[in-house]
Amino acid sequence: MASLLGLIEKKRDGLTHTASEIDALVHGFMSDELKDYQMAAWLMAVCTRGLTLDETAWLTEAYVKSGRSLDLSNVEGVVVDKHSTGGVGDKTTLVLVPLMAAAGLKVAKLSGRGLGFTGGTIDKLESIPGFRVSLSNTEFVSQLQSIGQALSSQTSDLAPADGKIYALRDVSGTIPSIALIAASVVSKKIAAGAQVIVLDIKVGEGAFMKTQEQARELASVCRAVGERLGRSISTVISSMDQPLGLAIGNSLEVQEAIDTLHGKGPEDLEALCLKLGAVALYGAGQVGDLATGEQLLFDCLKDGRALEQFKALLKAQGGEEALSILEEPLLLPQPSRVMLVPSLSSGYINAVHSLGIAQAAKMMGAGRTHKDSPIDLSVGVLLKKKIGDWVDEGEALAELYIGSKPLKEEPTNPSEALQVIQESFDIQPNRGLIPPLFDSIELGTVYKAKIKS
Ligand code: URA
Repeated sequence: MASLLGLIEKKRDGLTHTASEIDALVHGFMSDELKDYQMAAWLMAVCTRGLTLDETAWLTEAYVKSGRSLDLSNVEGVVVDKHSTGGVGDKTTLVLVPLMAAAGLKVAKLSGRGLGFTGGTIDKLESIPGFRVSLSNTEFVSQLQSIGQALSSQTSDLAPADGKIYALRDVSGTIPSIALIAASVVSKKIAAGAQVIVLDIKVGEGAFMKTQEQARELASVCRAVGERLGRSISTVISSMDQPLGLAIGNSLEVQEAIDTLHGKGPEDLEALCLKLGAVALYGAGQVGDLATGEQLLFDCLKDGRALEQFKALLKAQGGEEALSILEEPLLLPQPSRVMLVPSLSSGYINAVHSLGIAQAAKMMGAGRTHKDSPIDLSVGVLLKKKIGDWVDEGEALAELYIGSKPLKEEPTNPSEALQVIQESFDIQPNRGLIPPLFDSIELGTVYKAKIKS
């Protein structure tokens, strides 16, 4: 095999690596034999020359092999996981985990914290008093066996090569390679042990993928990698043309997820959860088509089975203290005051710019600028209008939830955030088109359970 330098030159010249060459690059980087500047050069060569599907699958495998993987082979039933590439107001995990468990799936979900404009599930869960977001491996597996669902924070020992390479991509202009993104996303899911994986790829202004073409390409590469590595990966491309649901902000999103589990959630959030869950049921071989899966999940939402599963999750990870939020929602972190955001004109809402809304929530302390920045779980934005709605001048477009403690020496003046929200609404005299929630849904191969001898 060529030297490590030779491998960088090989990709520079547009040639194709073998599996052992990809392994050598990742292994060399993890052992510091390949330096940061060399890996950055290789990553840039990948951005311009690309990786074949085989190379992408080998890179994914090398990431997985760089660390520990969760062994869920002793869990009875099909273990599923869903992952979203991150969106504004995306609280689907909080609804889907108990919902899919109610439909008989085993749901093993590792989640992260928010960074930039998207919120993280772990931050949202920390709004729940007493809820433990870090389960040990043994606890994770045993909870999966006992109540069919476990939700814990992702640890850095799963696919550590991805963590180290991602940090380098972030500072070397090499994030936007579809092959690198696919290897990064899929490796973490495979290391987390699931057999059936549903990827919710967000597209639009408030998302990582800005165009449908990019999103479709990412979806197809992820499915192909899944196929090569023996996992059922299905992809749903969903719109981030406006925030999902009405709530943006940690505690507000937990409340909205609970409302959804009571069968009283916003239409778009419920529709997305039903679709993602149905795709998981199909991938797990539990239903023959999506309509049957959606009906089963809809029934679980409306007859209380999903809520019962959520109670089981709260009890397992937070005991009576966590459970009490269902009786007493005011136990979730509360803002010091709520300000109405009035509309400056009358008309139809033509667009609600997700990035602007996320920015306003972040200005008030809902999001982080650095990995370790403190956040205020009580703050956020509650939308009162979405695309297609009519608004009168002076009527509320949204409510701004303001915290009690300034997190910065110079706290944001709420009126600045209020103005950002107003500017995020595009109001026109005529009603425009309502963008569809889904762009495309592509089902992976149905998982075939191994017969234990
Ligand atoms: N999310 C990931 O986990 N990895 C990427 O490369 C991009 C988004």
